[in-house]
Amino acid sequence: MPWNRRNLIAIEELSRAEIDQVHATAAVFKKTLQRSMKKVLALRGKTIVNLFFEPSTRTRMAFEMAAKRLSADVISFDANASSTTKGETLRDTAQNIQALNADMIVLRHSAAGSPLYLSRLLNIPVINAGDGAHEHPTQALLDTFTMLEHFGSLKGRKVVILGDVLFSRVARSNIWALTKLEADVTLVGPSTLVPHWFSDLGVKVSYDLKSALADAEVVMLLRIQHERQTSSHFPSLGEYTSMFGLNKTRASWLNPKAIIMHPGPINRGVEIDSDLADSSRSVILEQVHNGLAVRMAALFLCSGGHPEAASASV
Ligand code: CP
Repeated sequence: MPWNRRNLIAIEELSRAEIDQVHATAAVFKKTLQRSMKKVLALRGKTIVNLFFEPSTRTRMAFEMAAKRLSADVISFDANASSTTKGETLRDTAQNIQALNADMIVLRHSAAGSPLYLSRLLNIPVINAGDGAHEHPTQALLDTFTMLEHFGSLKGRKVVILGDVLFSRVARSNIWALTKLEADVTLVGPSTLVPHWFSDLGVKVSYDLKSALADAEVVMLLRIQHERQTSSHFPSLGEYTSMFGLNKTRASWLNPKAIIMHPGPINRGVEIDSDLADSSRSVILEQVHNGLAVRMAALFLCSGGHPEAASASV
């Protein structure tokens, strides 16, 4: 089945086959990153605008590098140095970018639904690079790509997502991706940050860290997202760390072959001990590395590239 989406807004709307296509295309592009000549000509002549209204290190740089590796021209929009500071709306900003002949917009915004809104307004593809607490689709695609590299298949694999699920777009996108890939997903954390209604999405919800981590093959840690919290959900960071932070003892409850994941940015000593973040079980930098190939795949496919053509283009 060919990829026939112009936009990448949410994992919720993707089929299993579409997720597989992104992964297969990313695998092709990943091989090119090992070459001395890393560029391919797939998007030569296209202009991609990175429209980031929230801070980002990994996602913004990965999209920028991915566009360059595909030979596109890329413009990174700095919201603080733009006419947004003079009151220009997102709608007007995006329509002006389209009027300047951009071929694609990659949007990060604090407002959930803003990529969907732009995708309905514009005639060019829109890729969601994180919208509020809604979704971060390319993060889940790179996370599942990384898990698949380790385990081959995710069917029945025990994956634990630990921490601030309520405010996490990464958690939501991963819940959709992992359940479509038939993983056995458990969410764990304080009940204020992991409400029981998440079980409606086909995952388990637990407040018992030891039993949740027991024999898990993947643990994905989440940062406490203070920027999206309007009230206190636990007494203090120290209390959170003492009850839910991943340390050496708690990591010993995992399956011996378990991998430790984190979308970044990590807060060392809060959700994860510094030593564990740097340990051989941690695949945090592998995730970042895979993020480049996955963003190349997302840009390529949403530009109208067919998965089979990815091999030809390299
Ligand atoms: N994982 C992630 O989205 O990181 P950035 O906020 O640095 O892009």
